[in-house]
Amino acid sequence: MASAVAARPALKRALPSLRSTFLPQQQQPQCHHRHVIPRRSFATSPSSRNDTQTSSTTSSSSTADRETHFGFSTVTESQKRAMVASVFTSVADSYDKMNDLMSFGWHRVWKDHFVSTLNPGFSPLSSSDPSAPQHILDIAGGTGDIAFRMLHHAHNVNSNPNVRVTISDINRAMLSVGKSRSADLPASQQAALSFVEANAEDLSLTRPLQPILSQQEQTFFDPATATSSIPDNSVDLYTVAFGIRNFSNIPQALREAYRVLKPGGVFACLEFSKADRHPLFNSVYKEWSFRAIPLIGQLVAGDRDSYQYLVESIERFPRQEEFRDMIVDAGFRVAGQGWEDLTGGVAAVHRGMKPRV
Ligand SMILES: C[S@@+](CC[C@H](N)C(=O)[O-])C[C@H]1O[C@@H](n2cnc3c(N)ncnc32)[C@H](O)[C@@H]1O
Repeated sequence: MASAVAARPALKRALPSLRSTFLPQQQQPQCHHRHVIPRRSFATSPSSRNDTQTSSTTSSSSTADRETHFGFSTVTESQKRAMVASVFTSVADSYDKMNDLMSFGWHRVWKDHFVSTLNPGFSPLSSSDPSAPQHILDIAGGTGDIAFRMLHHAHNVNSNPNVRVTISDINRAMLSVGKSRSADLPASQQAALSFVEANAEDLSLTRPLQPILSQQEQTFFDPATATSSIPDNSVDLYTVAFGIRNFSNIPQALREAYRVLKPGGVFACLEFSKADRHPLFNSVYKEWSFRAIPLIGQLVAGDRDSYQYLVESIERFPRQEEFRDMIVDAGFRVAGQGWEDLTGGVAAVHRGMKPRV
């Protein structure tokens, strides 16, 4: 593990070669600084900024040819995958510190709330035995914030040691930070945790987290290297926190969530959302997002472009109602309006249940 962590700074130097592997030559950026692809080098379509479809199709049916968005730019799905990978490989080392700075610590409050309301360790699928085994799949789990809270809650609040958490992410650099952090967990929680590389859009192709051995390696999951899969109807609780807006094809990821969940299992998503029901607050929040966050990214993490992408991706993510409808379209049932706003809608929790029949 130590070697993986030590390799991370070197990964940043390796990113230009990662880009050249995954992007067509004519769209290679002139690498002004660092490794994030300048979005302005792609054709942008401002008129589609408020589109809610994350994967509008072009005439081609090939996945690689479908259009989606990367922040405010229009790119293909495969380009977005490579660019998102580049962003998170870049921010992996500073990710946790930056979260605190960007959100004034609010992300911790939202994550605590998200986890405690899901009440891991108490299995609604086996009400006769609330300590029944439970398999939680934390998708886009990154550096482990949600997975660690899940285990803490299950073991310490619900006194249920029979909870397994699989933390899955497309990015080995993020997962490697999570793996290092997990060394501080109690042994019983470490034993209940596994790390898996996978693209959330196809959970039939996965592999256990591999150590990062050299700076030449790409740090995002290549499905050709898969050795395992997440079976149908195998998961009690599927969580995704601040991950889904980065996916190239959100409807496909929702269908995969539906496939892997057991009937009666729960899909739960914590994501940035819209605070525009409160116009004054919203305008202050937008100013903060677009002016301060990229600047903090530049000053603290030495990476303005990645944080510019993060705020643009928040702006592009569908409104609460629209995302709720996407969850319903994937086959889930929702209760009430289907979501809960946090901090005036800056973030929202959406939940859906896979029907039992
Ligand atoms: C903002 S981080 C969130 C990490 C963690 N869930 C948290 O709340 O702190 C977003 C994560 O989504 C991951 N990600 C992006 N696209 C993905 C995909 N298609 N499949 C799986 N993970 C993906 C990134 O690698 C990154 O680790």
